[in-house]
Amino acid sequence: MPRITLINFSWLVPVNRLRALASDGITPEWVYRSRRRFLAAAGAGAMTIVAGAAKAVARYDGAPRLAMDETLSPFEEVSSYNNFYEYSTDKKAIRQLAENLRPYPWQVEVKGDVANPRNFGVAELKSLFGVEERIYRLRCVEGWSAVIPWLGVPLGRVLGACSPLARAKYVRFVGPCDPSRFYGQRDRRLPWPYTEGLTIEEATHPLTLLATGMYGKTLPNQNGAPVRLVVPWKYGYKSLKSVVSIELRAERPETFWTRVSPEEYSFSANVDPDVPHPRWSQAREIRLGEMRKRPTLPFNGYAPEVAHLYAGVAATERR
Ligand code: MTE
Repeated sequence: MPRITLINFSWLVPVNRLRALASDGITPEWVYRSRRRFLAAAGAGAMTIVAGAAKAVARYDGAPRLAMDETLSPFEEVSSYNNFYEYSTDKKAIRQLAENLRPYPWQVEVKGDVANPRNFGVAELKSLFGVEERIYRLRCVEGWSAVIPWLGVPLGRVLGACSPLARAKYVRFVGPCDPSRFYGQRDRRLPWPYTEGLTIEEATHPLTLLATGMYGKTLPNQNGAPVRLVVPWKYGYKSLKSVVSIELRAERPETFWTRVSPEEYSFSANVDPDVPHPRWSQAREIRLGEMRKRPTLPFNGYAPEVAHLYAGVAATERR
């Protein structure tokens, strides 16, 4: 297996573009409006989120886990600078290549150690479990980050509906596999399909989302249409795009990146500024659309919500 890396230097190139984006400072109107409504609701003591431009208002039932105080990354940046190895390693090429994704119809299969295995269509996921908006930081292991308003359903609700068995300790996620359409999968050196894994506690944590949209719209193909995982306290490679199946199991699964380069990409992949990647520091990051680096936060800023998951877990296993 050759050394395949997630390193990315292309953000060094479009500095002028980033500068232009940073300086125009324009907040899309719907963002402004939904933030105002959020702030009004929060001020009234209700954790209520307006689901983007949608009509529905979903009640948000937990601790503060949002990045509402931060500027959203520009949609244009988030939807044109992507990692989607099924298509290409060229981040700027993904948007166009992914035009052939065909996200509908699509089924997500939940199977394995569950009493009630099920297939869900995307519309069914939304109507059964309720769409919420979550504004999360996304921190890529390569050193770039974004603040993204996702729309989606909490994964824990979906898994709960399938009645996990007591022996289910891990959850394995599998992406699509079709080299005739996903051109990157013609590279047989990589262990296709893209797979990821979480512990059952991580998968059912209220922050963990199956996203079906972002910025008040349907998820663009290049961002993982029609449904992707979002685990905001972990490096972005855990947030598998275009989920095809979810399998509950007793054993920890191997994952795409732990097979490609285990010494560089861990299973846990919790964002940790104190643990450098073997080839670069993780202490700082650059937001899409910004010019200056900023410090990276432990657990990507979600320590109050998730640190308890790792109490008593050996440091090597947490990273
Ligand atoms: N999911 C699949 N199926 N294939 C991928 O190559 N890349 C991961 C993750 N999910 C990837 C994936 C990585 S490395 C990152 S940083 C994020 O997707 C990027 O998500 P974005 O392109 O929507 O920003």
